[in-house]
Amino acid sequence: MLVLGIETSCDETGVALYHTERGLVAHALHSQVAMHAEYGGVVPELASRDHIRRVLPLTRQILKEAGCTLGDIEAIAYTEGPGLAGALLVGASIATSLGFALKVPVIGVHHLEGHLLAPLLEPNPPEFPFVALLVSGGHSQLMRVSGIGEYETLGETLDDAAGEAFDKTAKLLGLGYPGGPELSLRAGQGVAGRFKLPRPMLNSGDLNFSFSGLKTAVLTLARQQTLDQQTIADIARAFQDAIVEVLAVKSQAALRQTGLSRLVVAGGVGANRQLRETLSANAQRRGFEVYYPKLEFCTDNGAMIAFAGAMRIKHATPKGWKFNVRPRWDLASI
Ligand code: KG4
Ligand code: ZN
Repeated sequence: MLVLGIETSCDETGVALYHTERGLVAHALHSQVAMHAEYGGVVPELASRDHIRRVLPLTRQILKEAGCTLGDIEAIAYTEGPGLAGALLVGASIATSLGFALKVPVIGVHHLEGHLLAPLLEPNPPEFPFVALLVSGGHSQLMRVSGIGEYETLGETLDDAAGEAFDKTAKLLGLGYPGGPELSLRAGQGVAGRFKLPRPMLNSGDLNFSFSGLKTAVLTLARQQTLDQQTIADIARAFQDAIVEVLAVKSQAALRQTGLSRLVVAGGVGANRQLRETLSANAQRRGFEVYYPKLEFCTDNGAMIAFAGAMRIKHATPKGWKFNVRPRWDLASI
């Protein structure tokens, strides 16, 4: 079955074609980063309008690349939530209209389920069950994943998400938007150990996180320093060291608590090199396996939505041509 996936939950328009036997056939992405950069963050109304402009041309592009036509599409998956309401409505309405015209089933997908399943697109996918460290711009959670649709929250952030902490800290340091990639680049040039920042909730005894205090600690530190390029890099390094240590220690605790030996890392922060290196080193030392999606499928993309839709479509109940969006939606509830 050939499934078209449409992702429009935030500032990236992603489309993809996933075939249940042939795998990922084609995918394309348009990032709105340049458009939002001058505002220092995502402007929801601009995001929605841009998704409207991009979805259909990108869909035509991947159909052409795949040597297919609209008539070959057998199902359509779109991101139903969580995300920006207006942006989600664009994907939902286009998916449903196309589905109505083509008379094929349409399914709403949970954005985080897409992230969670993205590592399964890789050549040696993890087997169930596994622990997932889901770290994106809007969410930070540790989940026990027993199968498709079987997700149990083990711990989550009590305030800022990991990606949000990267973005806000980058802004404090005068770095560009989006902050994660830029801050991690600077951290690579920083001297480890020049500054030491707190490790929030490292010893809290549970699997929850809290990152807003870390951002405040950076603000206090930045105010005490002259922010030359090296100092910015050194603070970025201290911030990244702190956040990576907390994520790594809590992931290991989640593996211990569940008795599982497979860790899957997903979401935009999963693209962070230091996080990957630390988790891979820990995995070798402690004898667990760690799986990552390709870098391009860590951040938002259409492939993960097409894939999650393909996994679910067999069991989905047809819901006619109604569509829904859920700007707030708990993954453990699906
Ligand atoms: O998963 P994603 O694309 O969107 C959401 O669903 O939120 O994640 C975006 C987040 C942003 O906060 C971005 O700064 C962060 O992922 N990010 C990174 C890196 N690349 C993206 N954070 C740290 N290091 C990176 N290399
Ligand atoms: Zn995302």
